[in-house]
Amino acid sequence: MTLTKAVIPGSFDPITYGHIDIIQRSATRFDEIHVCVLKNSSKSGLFSLDERIELIEESVKDLDNVQVHNFNGLLVDFCTKIGAQTIIRGLRAVSDFEYELRLTSMNKKLNDEVETMYMMTSTNYSFISSSVVKEVAQYKANVSDFVPEHVERALNDKFRKFE
Ligand code: PNS
Repeated sequence: MTLTKAVIPGSFDPITYGHIDIIQRSATRFDEIHVCVLKNSSKSGLFSLDERIELIEESVKDLDNVQVHNFNGLLVDFCTKIGAQTIIRGLRAVSDFEYELRLTSMNKKLNDEVETMYMMTSTNYSFISSSVVKEVAQYKANVSDFVPEHVERALNDKFRKFE
């Protein structure tokens, strides 16, 4: 029997309900979901790799077929390493399209065997991004509609340290 494996890559700095929505829905369609934290060289991080992984693990602890990893390298190399041929990304709005097209085209060029599939983010979460959540959390706005409680706590702790 062949197991269907999919990789959900991202910076996850930090994980939001938008990410969790995509992970939960993908987990009903694939045997194994591998959430992978990778480096996005155009973003500087708020949370360390270990902190991001911890926050993701807590968020997906009830999903038996979801594993969390980090990988210091190319996404397609991570896919090869674990034997996955599918990447899943969430698409929120038309504004995501150009960036995602660049990402997918490059990954396809690097490894033609790996296919990227897109899932529309549920409309409730279509405006949420880690960047916007960080932006408002630093001014102590309530972010409980956008991230789980443990992530909100981590954000508050982080910004308290900067005061
Ligand atoms: O959540 P993000 O920041 O939109 O995710 C982007 C990410 C981390 C998936 C992307 O930057 C990535 O794949 N980084 C690893 C390096 C890589 O494989 N780059 C080639 C694609 S441009």
